[in-house]
Amino acid sequence: MLSNLPLFPEQASTVAESVDTLYVFLVLISAFFSVLIFALLLYFAIKYRRRSDVERPAPIHGDLRLELLWIVVPLGLTMVMFIWCAKVFFHMATPPAEAIEISAVGKQWMWKFQHPSGHREINELHVPVGRAVKLTMSSEDVLHDFYVPAFRVKMDVLPGRFTTAWFEATKTGTFHLFCAEYCGTVHSGMIGKVIVMTPAAYESWLSGDAAGETMAETGAKLFGQLGCHTCHSDRSDARGPSLTGIFGREVSLQDGSRVSADENYLRESILKPNAKVVEGYRPIMPTFQGQISEAGLMQIVAYIRSLSGREGSMN
Ligand code: CUA
Repeated sequence: MLSNLPLFPEQASTVAESVDTLYVFLVLISAFFSVLIFALLLYFAIKYRRRSDVERPAPIHGDLRLELLWIVVPLGLTMVMFIWCAKVFFHMATPPAEAIEISAVGKQWMWKFQHPSGHREINELHVPVGRAVKLTMSSEDVLHDFYVPAFRVKMDVLPGRFTTAWFEATKTGTFHLFCAEYCGTVHSGMIGKVIVMTPAAYESWLSGDAAGETMAETGAKLFGQLGCHTCHSDRSDARGPSLTGIFGREVSLQDGSRVSADENYLRESILKPNAKVVEGYRPIMPTFQGQISEAGLMQIVAYIRSLSGREGSMN
């Protein structure tokens, strides 16, 4: 119904409709109260205008019913908004477990993607329709923002940490991808396309050209080149904790606290090894800051994830 209005881009993901419904609800509530307030303002200004210099109205000392009304009604409305927004927000912030894991790196001024199979793309992202896709994103330089209006998905892409976004496209076609954070002189040119294909077309696109090695395989190579395996082995006398099965698990730290071993924890442990030292180990790991690219970090994380049997690939 609203897709003919230029204000409302095509709805092409599973969350698009719920985002739009919520948006329309918020606009209608705001419009209703804006009109009501301005109309009453005008009406009261005329009705209670001062008619003579000596006019002194009786003072008003309050009205409990009125007070209750303007506490209860806004409270009810804001609670409805809060619960509704939180529901949509948490749904959008929680990628389904079976999502395809694709990595995205923003840099001045382009988008670089890598599929679990190892396929790389620049300013284009091919995805299958009807499958959840989770993006793990970071930036090589400044703040960027991954924005696909048709999916109603928008997420900041930051240097120095991973952010994630997910979507499930509901129709095939080509959709705009924008950078939605001012990031320098060619910010407006930092645009791309998301190409949503049928699952069969996606499979044949993946097998179209030689992918070389998967992300996890590249990560395993990097892991070896950087010498990580010399300490992180499964042997009982290893100097570093074993990484087998660690991804997504709770880890006990030296200071007695516990953290979940997610992407950002692994990232921090590679770049700032002493920030969170695992219980029973000494802070002897050197930093790898400046030695691994953003894409390399994602590949190593993909490798460590694969050690837990969670490749996030196309099965
Ligand atoms: Cu990248 Cu704007």
